[in-house]
Amino acid sequence: MRRLGASRRSAIPAFEVMRITDRIAHRRAEGHDVVSLCAGEPSARPAPGTLKLAGYTGPLGTAPLREAIAGHYRSWYGVEVEPGRVAVTTGSSGAFQLAFLTAFDAGDRVALASPGYPAYRNILTALGVQVVEIPTGGDTRYQPTPALLDAAVAEHGELAGLVIASPANPTGTMLGRSELTALVEWCRARGVRLVSDEIYHGITFPAPDDPDPRGTSAAELDSEAIVINSFSKYWGMTGWRLGWALLPQGLVAPFEALASNFALSPPAPAQELALTAFTPESYAERDAVVEGFARARALILEAEPALDWGDAAPSDGAFYYYSELGPQLERYGSATAYAAALLERADVAIVPGVDFDPSTSSGQAAGDRAVRLSYAAGEAAVAEALDRILRFQG
Ligand SMILES: Cc1ncc(COP(=O)(O)O)c(C=O)c1O
Repeated sequence: MRRLGASRRSAIPAFEVMRITDRIAHRRAEGHDVVSLCAGEPSARPAPGTLKLAGYTGPLGTAPLREAIAGHYRSWYGVEVEPGRVAVTTGSSGAFQLAFLTAFDAGDRVALASPGYPAYRNILTALGVQVVEIPTGGDTRYQPTPALLDAAVAEHGELAGLVIASPANPTGTMLGRSELTALVEWCRARGVRLVSDEIYHGITFPAPDDPDPRGTSAAELDSEAIVINSFSKYWGMTGWRLGWALLPQGLVAPFEALASNFALSPPAPAQELALTAFTPESYAERDAVVEGFARARALILEAEPALDWGDAAPSDGAFYYYSELGPQLERYGSATAYAAALLERADVAIVPGVDFDPSTSSGQAAGDRAVRLSYAAGEAAVAEALDRILRFQG
């Protein structure tokens, strides 16, 4: 008789950030004034519009929203996208699940950069896809390169896919147009499906002469890439659970078949509201929020000498600062211990890097030497947190 247990594919780690969120809630309930640089969500939310009562929509979303998303590619990237290739999903998280199911079979190998967003690795693992971690560092801005991919193929065998993110979580680093083009060409030459997570596009801190100030989209370079995005970050609509995938024509029908079984349709009220995201007023409002992130980021960069941590990733975009702990690591032994002490003694919540880079060397997860600060909480919270961190470190 079969055992009534959980499936083997569900044996994946939980998301540490969400557990810290729970600890923050506990401490706040006990009356502590906790400053959280933990969550990856903007505190400035859009004002809710008038919502109609809504039923199911088509499995790939409403036609007006799919057209509006195609229009967004025209206005930001100057690229014409057929609205029929846009699939609206329950957050980009829903897009990843469906995209991975659509593009990869169990046993396929898919590469991704380490450190990286843990859900890619965990969803792929749960789907029986073999994850090939590409260790990256400051020399490549924590991004994969053709040379690193060649090395991965030599070690592990042919790849079915490559997942990239620019700006990335947890590092905030970006792929420039030429770096992205090199990866697109590498994938195209080998029949490797590129999945490009562009959820942090628009939250960028470009030089005044940057030709791609919002980020370069893989949609500009290759219609065979799967491009994923969301209303969660630039638009700050995390709780509306709405994202999208821009699909190669050949994947639209299988993706739709899966979507119509798994989620039936993306949430209708959220789709209605999301139509207002693409107005000039909305872009202006969100760009002002990004200016606030830029000010919060500047505070952290100014504090770098006083913090006296180790090497930090260049924070090109998103709202993350990822740094080795340097002398603090010697004092506390691990980023997990440092972050726990900081929360318990100074009421500042930050995230140790273990989730993002669990690969081990000399018995310690590489990520457990680094921390991620999210400055999505804004300037005042960051200023207060930095003050407390500096007092904590003494
Ligand atoms: C890189 C990256 N991709 C995807 C997501 C998922 O976001 P959502 O499902 O809200 O679109 C996140 C959330 O933090 C993220 O950091």
